[in-house]
Amino acid sequence: MKFTHSALLALAASAMAAPSATTKEQPRQAGACSSAVSLDAKTNVFKKYTLHPNDFYRSEVDAAAEQISDSSLAAAAKKVGDVGSFLWMDTIENIGRAEKNIADVPCDHIMGLVVYDLPGRDCAAKASNGELKVGEISKYKSEYIDRKYFLYTPFLSLIRYGGKKGKKADKRKNQTAIVKMLKAHPNTAFALIIEPDSLPNLVTNADLQTCKDSAAGYRDGVAYAFKQLNLPNVVMYVDAGHGGWLGWDANLKPGAQELAKVYKNAGSPSQVRGFATNIAGWNSWDESPGEFSTASDAKYNSCQNEKTYVEKFGAALKSAGMPNHAIVDTGRNGVTGLRKEWGDWCNVNGAGFGVRPTADTGLELADAFVWGKPGGESDGTSDTSATRYDSFCGKDDAFKPSPEAGTWNQAYFEMLLKNAVPSF
Ligand code: GLC
Repeated sequence: MKFTHSALLALAASAMAAPSATTKEQPRQAGACSSAVSLDAKTNVFKKYTLHPNDFYRSEVDAAAEQISDSSLAAAAKKVGDVGSFLWMDTIENIGRAEKNIADVPCDHIMGLVVYDLPGRDCAAKASNGELKVGEISKYKSEYIDRKYFLYTPFLSLIRYGGKKGKKADKRKNQTAIVKMLKAHPNTAFALIIEPDSLPNLVTNADLQTCKDSAAGYRDGVAYAFKQLNLPNVVMYVDAGHGGWLGWDANLKPGAQELAKVYKNAGSPSQVRGFATNIAGWNSWDESPGEFSTASDAKYNSCQNEKTYVEKFGAALKSAGMPNHAIVDTGRNGVTGLRKEWGDWCNVNGAGFGVRPTADTGLELADAFVWGKPGGESDGTSDTSATRYDSFCGKDDAFKPSPEAGTWNQAYFEMLLKNAVPSF
């Protein structure tokens, strides 16, 4: 179909003046809350809000429970769905998965979301390589984080994609971007974990070509996310790896400086609260002297558990000029002593669910223990012929067989449940 220039202008004007009935610009009522949420990121919001047990994880867990024949284990499994956890927006399409789960968030809950779709994602490993390629930063900005243009009115989709690609245009019209979704739910509180592994990889894996290629997009993308997601109903924690990563003496300062630089480039947004640690990780909170304290290189790492890491990295962040409170993932760290090496990150065999989310951490700098990685979802495939096969997922201490990252692994879930500390 062709349009004349003036017809285009007229159509454009009407599209802007009168959003169609299907656009979701109007704020929806969230849960039972009737007033807008305003989070003070200078305080620990987890003291006031409980991490929301989202229906997506609950549905995964319910389906898993149904497959368990032992009735007492099945009953225990069901309880896992009541635990608050973060929901991962690992593709543009999966923002929709998050959106479906916001309507029921009660006033005293905070919805946890992970922002995870940088171009050239997972540059030092393969298992979680994402949908956006290096260089696709404008797509990250305009389709994932924000949506600045009126691209998705039926009219402009038609111009952009034409009749032939009508189906694609239709699908996109129904997709949302994160900023729009958060703004549409002003009565819901959100805690965001920003881009696991990305900035830490720039500190310790800067010599890898893949990370060199990803670096500019990571820095630009995280700064953009900070800026655009800086909304009153949001608090943000940017990923800082874990004690066995940026906790090495030589990495603490450069790590803190890397994060702080991006934060400052974003204009020091008010809703950034600090950092997230141990996301999808296995480290103990306070085992002392620490799981790897007898390793030959232990003398070069003064952060042998996450508690010490939060203290030391928090101090380094403060010196670097960035807010320094933390949330710590305790989703799968119930059992220690399983990894052959500290850096083993994929589907650790023998693992158990850990401490449930709470703001009672005993350390002022640690706002909360959270479940960041939804236990039962795989870290990566053990299929050596898969494109995203990473050798870490084939190690002796990795559980096999395991499906693609993010995919449910029933046997792994049952193991986490049986080994949970505390038990269910
Ligand atoms: C992994 C996957 C991602 C998934 C997330 C949570 O890192 O790459 O797809 O959503 O873990 O399970």
